[in-house]
Amino acid sequence: MKLTWLGHSAFHCSFAGTDLLIDPFWTGNPTFPEGFEPRLAKVDRILVTHVHGDHLGDTARLAQKYDATVMAQYEVCEYLGARGLSKFEPMNTGGTVAAGGCRVSMVPAFHSSTLVEDGRVVCVGDPVGFVIAGENTSVYHAGDTSVFGDMALIGRMWRPKVGLLPIGDRFTMGPEGAAYVCNELLEFETVVPMHWGTFPMLSGTPEAFAALVRRGRVRTLRPGEAAEL
Ligand code: NI
Ligand code: MN
Repeated sequence: MKLTWLGHSAFHCSFAGTDLLIDPFWTGNPTFPEGFEPRLAKVDRILVTHVHGDHLGDTARLAQKYDATVMAQYEVCEYLGARGLSKFEPMNTGGTVAAGGCRVSMVPAFHSSTLVEDGRVVCVGDPVGFVIAGENTSVYHAGDTSVFGDMALIGRMWRPKVGLLPIGDRFTMGPEGAAYVCNELLEFETVVPMHWGTFPMLSGTPEAFAALVRRGRVRTLRPGEAAEL
């Protein structure tokens, strides 16, 4: 599996010829690697963890441009469908859907999922995470979340080898929480920190995180950097 970090919680992920985008917050993301989009030839699926702007991001534009299918919670699909999108794999927590060269499972996250429309805060679905399993590897994108005990259950059921964990603190778990996940709840071979360094309010650093992790290898990527995992 080839994984490219696109800044914040945005990733491009390629499984046996199936190209996925996760939480494509590109426009307005100060850490998005300029020049990535012109090189991107194809997108098969776009996975959305929740509708906060720093995760829903460019989903509508990219889904139309690449004729990609959006995989998200049912309510998020309904919301996007009412705004002109038509290709969806609606899901909910506990469900698994085949997606070309991989299988996508939706798992819970502890956070919120709102956007502001006409000056009002509107809830659209719940926050989720994803476990994406291919032939030889599997990756858990935790979305925005705190630590929660049932992460251990995600570990027992899916045994994800790669973890993508938020470490920025304030809106999600910080370095201490994410390190607890690695040391106590999930046995990752490799963990990639995300949701850090985008905005000054996100105080957690990959150095602080890596210093606390005792189990698994921390692989800190630069925006635009790809890893074969
Ligand atoms: Ni959020
Ligand atoms: Mn966020």
